Amino acid sequence: MFDGQTTSEEVIAAFKPEIKGKTYVLIGAGYPSIGSQMATYLAQGSPAHIVIASRTASKVEPVVAKIREIDSGIKTIFVQVDVTDHSSVRRAAGEILEATKEKGIDVLVHTAGAMAIKNYTLDKQGIEYQLSTNHVGGFLLVNLLVPGLLTAVAAASSSGKGGARFVILTSSGYRLTPFRFDDYNFSNGEKYEPWTAYGQGKTANILFAHGLGKRLREKGVVAAAVHPGYNGNTKLGEHLTWDDYAVIGDIMKRNRGIDWEVSYDLPCQIFRFFLSYLELFACYGLAGGLDGCLVISTATRGTTEDLTTYLISLSLLYPTSPHSTARRR
Ligand SMILES: NC(=O)c1ccc[n+]([C@@H]2O[C@H](COP(=O)([O-])OP(=O)(O)OC[C@H]3O[C@@H](n4cnc5c(N)ncnc54)[C@H](OP(=O)(O)O)[C@@H]3O)[C@@H](O)[C@H]2O)c1
Repeated sequence: MFDGQTTSEEVIAAFKPEIKGKTYVLIGAGYPSIGSQMATYLAQGSPAHIVIASRTASKVEPVVAKIREIDSGIKTIFVQVDVTDHSSVRRAAGEILEATKEKGIDVLVHTAGAMAIKNYTLDKQGIEYQLSTNHVGGFLLVNLLVPGLLTAVAAASSSGKGGARFVILTSSGYRLTPFRFDDYNFSNGEKYEPWTAYGQGKTANILFAHGLGKRLREKGVVAAAVHPGYNGNTKLGEHLTWDDYAVIGDIMKRNRGIDWEVSYDLPCQIFRFFLSYLELFACYGLAGGLDGCLVISTATRGTTEDLTTYLISLSLLYPTSPHSTARRR
């Protein structure tokens, strides 16, 4: 059974037969990100091919070196992409499809992200930077890569194996705000608030996973949004102080009129997460990418599917929560 103490090694050990020989594409996996850990743990399961699409070559080099050290037989390539630049996204998509054209993409993971950028910033296209990084750029890239997922589905069905899968890392920060359809760019910055912008992107991640899953499920592609818990050892919040985090409760109250509280047994979990290592954190994304139980759960849920896409991942974190349907024994 997976729970709040499950390690990435345990997830990999549980799914080794499923990983063997498959192709994984990870978007946003420079060291020391969660994506980088996912890549090196996956390497222990003997996949055929790992493609890392990320922004900074020098941060991906140690990840590629580690994969080769673990298993030199894995074909590992780096594709440079800046998801905030749509011409870069289109070029990278072409390179990834070319590199995976024979057997397609079995599992596509989007973990590129940015959090609570203090100053209002626009990307090249004029989109608020966090929305651009957390959602829009990945939305474009993943959609361009759908033919690769479908190629993998076709290859898998001819060999009698399962379909393909898309996993995106969201966050409990989604609760900060619904998507701001009327003002996604914060009135050209006048209404910009860094945490709300993060929340908007993370809400978009969940909606995207839900929307893509709905459209592609019958074609054999499963999509899931996964919350990885909290870990301060990545670069995501390196520009923030504890005071910056302290305002989250007030922002939540102002945006949604509710408290930043959760209904499950959180305090001990948070404590564990603060002490835990990045290795632990990769496991939620890995489980999202590998666990067949998640397929059944997302496929059979009813009207609240969009949220269950997200909450299913919480069941991995909080085995006592009412959403603990995706446990594996
Ligand atoms: N860490 C946590 O506690 C936590 C909690 C909840 C949710 N999450 C989510 O988990 C995901 C990964 O977070 P993390 O902690 O691993 O963050 P991180 O250490 O900042 O890593 C993010 C990765 O995304 C890449 N990236 C950022 N902007 C990019 C761009 N414009 N184009 C291409 N790649 C880009 C980074 O590339 P570089 O190497 O160039 O920087 C890096 O490899 C995020 O979506 C985040 O919202 C994390």
